[in-house]
Amino acid sequence: MALPDWSAIRALPRTPLPALFRQDGDRVAALSADVAGIRFDWSKTHLTKEALAVFSALADAMGLAAKRDALFAGEAVNVTEGRAAEHSAERGEGAPDSVALARAYRERMRAVIDAIEAEAFGPIRSILHVGIGGSALGPDLLVDALGRDSDRYEVAIVSNVDGVAIEEAMERFDPRTTLLAIASKTFTTTETMLNAQSALEWMQQAGVEDPYGQVIALTAAPDKAIEWGVDETRILPFSESVGGRYSLWSSIGFPAALALGWDAFEELLEGAAEMDRHFRLAPIAKNAPVLAAFADLYYTQARGCETRATFAYDERLRLLPSYLQQLEMESNGKSVTAGGEPVTYPTAPITWGGVGTDAQHAVFQLLHQGTHLVPVEFVGVIEPGDGLAEDHHRQLLLNMFAQGAALMAGKHADDPARAYSGDRPSSTLLLDRLDPRTLGALIAFYEHRTFVNAVLLGINPFDQFGVELGKQMAKAADQGGLDFDASTTDLIARAFK
Ligand code: F6P
Repeated sequence: MALPDWSAIRALPRTPLPALFRQDGDRVAALSADVAGIRFDWSKTHLTKEALAVFSALADAMGLAAKRDALFAGEAVNVTEGRAAEHSAERGEGAPDSVALARAYRERMRAVIDAIEAEAFGPIRSILHVGIGGSALGPDLLVDALGRDSDRYEVAIVSNVDGVAIEEAMERFDPRTTLLAIASKTFTTTETMLNAQSALEWMQQAGVEDPYGQVIALTAAPDKAIEWGVDETRILPFSESVGGRYSLWSSIGFPAALALGWDAFEELLEGAAEMDRHFRLAPIAKNAPVLAAFADLYYTQARGCETRATFAYDERLRLLPSYLQQLEMESNGKSVTAGGEPVTYPTAPITWGGVGTDAQHAVFQLLHQGTHLVPVEFVGVIEPGDGLAEDHHRQLLLNMFAQGAALMAGKHADDPARAYSGDRPSSTLLLDRLDPRTLGALIAFYEHRTFVNAVLLGINPFDQFGVELGKQMAKAADQGGLDFDASTTDLIARAFK
């Protein structure tokens, strides 16, 4: 398999950002795109027309177009596990059989949701969703971003095995009017199964007549859910070929569909499908996921950047950075190519971030004056989420725009402590409004950008063997079957004496 050659990218001239703007009056138009209600602006990155040409040649050499087609055709792009990665089929874009199966599963989910709304499960008021990783981060983001004004159902999404988390949720809810949704692709994840067990016991102890009647399983392993005691009619399956961190579009999105309503869930899928079509069809020079990946790779491969930070200038998107951490780091935090060769270049940067304007008063010092060069991504929304008469939203957005401008322009001062180097890159994603459609498109954009990064890096973004070893060792320790090192043995002895 061909390995990427970064030499032409590393040899690109290092013209400072302000000079790039002076040299090219067309820069904003040339380095931006408008897709599905989102403005993407990469003009404050060091991408240039010349850089785009070099990256396009790399994309050709790495077979990006063919790999993208293979992704959408449902081919086994997850080569280490011999599987397809068919999250786009969940939104109607993919191999016809997979799209049809996803639609059938979705109809089943809709029927169950209709039944819950018709109180066939009793008077349900709250949803206790237990799941972890991709089985929690996606639905949590959706409900937190879009469900704030909804009075349909109370939702708690519990992931941590720390009992404090599930206890807090149980204190909030009445077990007689709570639906327990167990979200696990494999239906074997320790944290989720333990949380599910504790929630079931909570219902039993409260005298709920038929606790299993208030349990729904969201899974790609229906047999395991049946073994656990879930009634077959209360299982909402999804396909094995939908990866955990790409699964919010499937039945894993169940709490969001309930909290936001079915129409909103369908619109979320449609927004994502619009981004799918854009990714498949738009030319490289205007293709948002492709251009974003070019910028990512420029900074990791040519400028040695080890991290990238996303700041959501919108309280409703406060969970976006943690969602992105799993998507990007679990997908592309790899040291071998898809063919198993060790890589000789950095792969995914560390993804981190926060919420503006809070982050300005905490971490932005380092971004403006620190020794690390950190490409920053700003995400804002034009339409305000608040209904206040005072101009909070104007302040919010002006701060976001000013930060990008300040990072780039810098400021001279005779006192070095007060000087700003400038020439620090940022990109901006500006949503017209935050609704299911634009959020769907935004998340699909991030998925495809992660995929393009992986293709150009020559790695497989769809496996995650790196998370297994620690889990296996914890299990072995629980069963007393492992000889640990002296430090770990000592810590275990202290904790459980
Ligand atoms: O931690 C690894 C992982 O497999 C993630 O990829 C996944 O999203 C999470 O665990 C939860 O897995 P499951 O949905 O099977 O419980």
